[in-house]
Amino acid sequence: MVDLPEYACACGRSYEVSVGRWRCDCGGVLDLAAVPLAWSPRGDDHSLWRYADAIPVPGRRFSLGEGMTPLVEASLGGAGSPGGDDGVWFKVEYVSPTGSFKDRGAVVLAALADLIGAPRLVADSSGNAGTAMAAYAARAGVAAEIFVPSGVSEKKLAQIRGHGARVTVVEGPREETARAAVERVEATGAFYASHVYNPFFYEGTKTYALEVFEQLGGTAPDALVLPAGNGTLVIGAYLGFAGLRAAGLVDRVPRIVAVQAELCAPVAEAFTSGRADVEAWSAAGTAEAPGPGERTVAGRTVAEGIAIAAPARGARILEIVRETGGAVVTVSEKEIALSHAALAARGLWVEPTGAVAYAAVRGLRSCGSPLTEGTVVAPLCGSGLKASM
Ligand SMILES: Cc1ncc(COP(=O)(O)O)c(C=O)c1O
Ligand SMILES: [Zn+2]
Repeated sequence: MVDLPEYACACGRSYEVSVGRWRCDCGGVLDLAAVPLAWSPRGDDHSLWRYADAIPVPGRRFSLGEGMTPLVEASLGGAGSPGGDDGVWFKVEYVSPTGSFKDRGAVVLAALADLIGAPRLVADSSGNAGTAMAAYAARAGVAAEIFVPSGVSEKKLAQIRGHGARVTVVEGPREETARAAVERVEATGAFYASHVYNPFFYEGTKTYALEVFEQLGGTAPDALVLPAGNGTLVIGAYLGFAGLRAAGLVDRVPRIVAVQAELCAPVAEAFTSGRADVEAWSAAGTAEAPGPGERTVAGRTVAEGIAIAAPARGARILEIVRETGGAVVTVSEKEIALSHAALAARGLWVEPTGAVAYAAVRGLRSCGSPLTEGTVVAPLCGSGLKASM
């Protein structure tokens, strides 16, 4: 048996990793007992497994070539952000095997499922985590059942089904989908491959930071601007840079600016109010159908990937942005649409959620905010081929 770090809860309890354990007996979310980051990139590996020594699950053989996504300069001297794009870099996550950064976490969870002998897994997702888990479960030969909320793009559904996973569409707000998945997990004893609850997912997303560090020539940018629904990229990117700092490779963690849609902004609301925890956003997902001529459901953001009313790790996101001197900011539907169009005009085709981080960069740069001074990295986190504006 391979040595895995234990699950640990803030209440002090810890648990050996097992198929059935997905949260603490106190109801709290589990983290991993801290393991120092082992920095020895494998020069001949051009996937996320370049950082295999820093990922506490041996999983190379399930790779679909995820990770090592391009870092491209935003500015080419043409029309860009209203405040200028100098020093802004896009991390092009949408070239990942299933079209989003979720592949980073999914490959690690699939490897973990195999390692601990889980024949079946369950996941719930607004779309991209579901497509990623379905693909990597198929790769690892683990049966998958994916719960999605109604309204998820047809292409994401087709992809999940195409990979052989069973799909259950759940009506109502996103939390109902999570509740249905948990019920199935409890009833069947399946492995809950949750990008929200399983901390091994963050061991995958942390490679985002390790790549940025290497791609910027062994330096940290001044700021990371990241979309935040459940915060898997925020938490992963923080873990990566905190690990590099602990290893003495950088002297600080970049400012982390988390971005939410104005129409679903529970973490931003808690940040602005100075609270330590997040209260559920009651308006999300409860709105009526679109009115005549309206392109989006009133009260529901086009950024489906970050429409999370009650993020289970909201308090952690708040801690991270506060510790790094960052912030939680919001973008309007109009800003998302303009940023989507500005990216498309430069040859970059993202799904609406994929335009959110750049929308924040544009807004912050245009008002001269210190949050986006210096070198800034923003992900283009999801592909426009799966969902359009
Ligand atoms: C394209 C895209 N960007 C961002 C996110 C947000 O990720 P998280 O909910 O982990 O913050 C998602 C989540 O599904 C996504 O699909
Ligand atoms: Zn606990």
